[in-house]
Amino acid sequence: ERISIIGVPMDLGQMRRGVDMGPSAIRYAGVVERLEWLQYEIEDKGDIKIGRPNREEDSNSLNNLRNLKAVSEGNLKLSEQVDEVIQSGSFPLVLGGDHSIAIGTLAGVSKHYKELGVIWYDAHGDLNTGDTSPSGNIHGMPLAVSIGIGDETLTRIGGYTPKVKPENIVIIGARSLDDGEKELIKEKGIKVYTMHEIDRLGMTKVMEETIQYLKERTDGVHLSLDLDGLDPHDAPGVGTPVIGGISYRESHLAMEMLAESDIITSAEFVEVNPILDEKNKTATVAVALMGSLFGEKLL
Ligand code: ARG
Ligand code: MN
Ligand code: MN
Ligand code: MN
Repeated sequence: ERISIIGVPMDLGQMRRGVDMGPSAIRYAGVVERLEWLQYEIEDKGDIKIGRPNREEDSNSLNNLRNLKAVSEGNLKLSEQVDEVIQSGSFPLVLGGDHSIAIGTLAGVSKHYKELGVIWYDAHGDLNTGDTSPSGNIHGMPLAVSIGIGDETLTRIGGYTPKVKPENIVIIGARSLDDGEKELIKEKGIKVYTMHEIDRLGMTKVMEETIQYLKERTDGVHLSLDLDGLDPHDAPGVGTPVIGGISYRESHLAMEMLAESDIITSAEFVEVNPILDEKNKTATVAVALMGSLFGEKLL
């Protein structure tokens, strides 16, 4: 089996510099070696070129969407690469970069599935629009964009919308939601396991239910893993940390259960910011989780 790695040095979806170095940090943490060890054929496609925003877009810009043009252009390129990778029969593994890149990943992936499922492993819902966003940061919007809500420049990437149906989404790890996001979750009936449910049911049950739910209704599942879904103790190198998160061990268990279930058809690991990190800990955690996701076992 072949895995194709696509790096996306995107930092324009938020305001902390350094997340553009996420792909290098993850490569430095040994992603290629780790997956080769598991007998995969690895193709590293290198990094997508992300343009710099021009001056009038720099500051808080049109419709509360910071860096809209550069973010949408980068995502269009990403969507084309992801599309090609799947066409070539390979598994797309996207390395971020801030979470705005999920817009492009999903635009590329969803062409290939009628009922694409998404696991959104994150402290946040990323369900804002320019109207509801407290920050104007597009990394807080990609899930809304992917269900067809938000600025057309983003929702129309790839020439079609929506990319995902709300009922095919499962959010895991939520503990920071803005008011508009809460409303959208209720209105659209999106399935969410907040930290409360993870504590109450345990990760085993959460993943059993998630896998069962997605198996019943989807023909492919994309894993979008924001490292801030983990507790900042285990993943400190992220731009928007929220205490009280999923542990390293629970995350391994989740990845191992996904590996056993064999439902995942594409994945991305985002928001790794080496400037905010401690000795590349967060990228190292990301690579360890990828190991489990792709079938690594102790014995
Ligand atoms: N909800 C906040 C916002 O819209 C934070 C979003 C954080 N998103 C992320 N991918 N880390 O600005
Ligand atoms: Mn997040
Ligand atoms: Mn996110
Ligand atoms: Mn493990």
